[in-house]
Amino acid sequence: PEIGCLSIIVLGASGDLAKKKTFPALFHLYCQGFLPPNEVHIFGYARTKISDDELRNRIRGYLVSERSASPSNDVSKFLQLIKYVSGSYDAAEGFQMLDKEISKHETSKNSLEGSSRRLFYLALPPSVYPSVCRMIRRYCMNKSNLGGWTRIVVEKPFGRDLGSAEELSSQIGELFDEPQIYRIDHYLGKELVQNLLVLRFANRFFLPLWNRDNIDNVQIVFREDFGTEGRGGYFDEYGIIRDIIQNHLLQVLCLVAMEKPVSLKPERIRDEKVKVLQSVLPIKDEEVVLGQYEGYRDDPTVPDHSNTPTFATVILRIHNERWEGVPFILKAGKALNSRKAEIRVQFKDVPGDIFKCKKQGRNEFVIRLQPSEAMYMKLMVKQPGLEMSTVQSELDLSYRQRYQGVTIPEAYERLILDTIRGDQQHFVRRDELKAAWEIFTPLLHRIDNGEMKPIPYQAGSRGPAEADELLEKAGYVQTHGYIWIPPTL
Ligand code: BG6
Repeated sequence: PEIGCLSIIVLGASGDLAKKKTFPALFHLYCQGFLPPNEVHIFGYARTKISDDELRNRIRGYLVSERSASPSNDVSKFLQLIKYVSGSYDAAEGFQMLDKEISKHETSKNSLEGSSRRLFYLALPPSVYPSVCRMIRRYCMNKSNLGGWTRIVVEKPFGRDLGSAEELSSQIGELFDEPQIYRIDHYLGKELVQNLLVLRFANRFFLPLWNRDNIDNVQIVFREDFGTEGRGGYFDEYGIIRDIIQNHLLQVLCLVAMEKPVSLKPERIRDEKVKVLQSVLPIKDEEVVLGQYEGYRDDPTVPDHSNTPTFATVILRIHNERWEGVPFILKAGKALNSRKAEIRVQFKDVPGDIFKCKKQGRNEFVIRLQPSEAMYMKLMVKQPGLEMSTVQSELDLSYRQRYQGVTIPEAYERLILDTIRGDQQHFVRRDELKAAWEIFTPLLHRIDNGEMKPIPYQAGSRGPAEADELLEKAGYVQTHGYIWIPPTL
């Protein structure tokens, strides 16, 4: 590993994302020894004029979660690593000041000999990415006489549609090379998303089954049991497709559907993801159901006549040898009756069924991303007892039970560590982003123009009934009378 000074600069330090995700992730890395205090300095940068201590106090409350019952002196020691610099996002002074502060540590007698590594985390709205990148490029690059690197981390939304995303990409691309740019999609940092590659390509079980001959349909589902409380203003600009489906669910789809990469090199994996995206056929209007929960427009930051969907079911069709004819059903909704994210692979019926058990349900392989990480296979067994009857049961790998005492890292924690290590596998490449926008842009434009309207649904419900009807039409067979219960220890 490289040694020398590592400076992590969180821009937008007083914002929501920084407080809730970035700083807590850094704190967890610190507690596990990944950010040694003699090497690492953390800077917060934002417009608000506050002192170091004021920033620390704003962050403090978010650091201690149920997971990390860290001693409070850890928290204090970590907070002491953080310095604050205030300045605007488009003027030289602030960034010159920031550079001065960073350089101080890099050249101080106490710092380790070695390179200058600078990680800029843009916890900011994309509208300021170009100006911030320009400022960093001009004033804050790592000192070449020391060697090292400068990397920038950006968060979605990367644009609103194909055109704006491409414009943003080229503006940033003029300033930084692709290996310096880390586009975060935090779903790629989730344990069970990262597990997909192993599961698919290291198991003989799945290899022969993972195709159109055996799989009837695939669902990738995101449900939240709360609305857009407090972020209605942001959300209304984007809607559920841009907020969840075009990025998080589509990334998961790539990993479920892609071919085996030539090797585990990040570029080879991303090559395969791009191919899947490029094989997706144009979305048909009749394979889309949009919804908006009742009460969404009561939020004062949401316009009274908003056409923004808070729920969507969209069927994607992958035109290749492996998947032709298999619907990939992407479904996401806010203010529903439960909170979970899962992948549900439903197999075809058993041919020549001698048990007449068809109506009991099909084989399904479910990967529960959250909560209660698990993988389970729904399968038929003989009902235990004297009778010869069948019942649906499961082979269950529930992580909490199987890996007792193992802490599953937070997505952001893992991804930030990757950025420090220079591993881009779990980040979105520019061509991948473009292909993702190509899929959804025509649909998004139709919604933006009011040509497609969301159906109202009750908050706390399953979403519009039309979505279930669409699923059924696509071939999904819902199992009745079976519920998977995550095992308790
Ligand atoms: C974010 C979305 O990217 O992901 C939010 O902007 C959403 O709307 C969140 O709530 C969900 O993340 P997670 O990790 O809780 O599933």
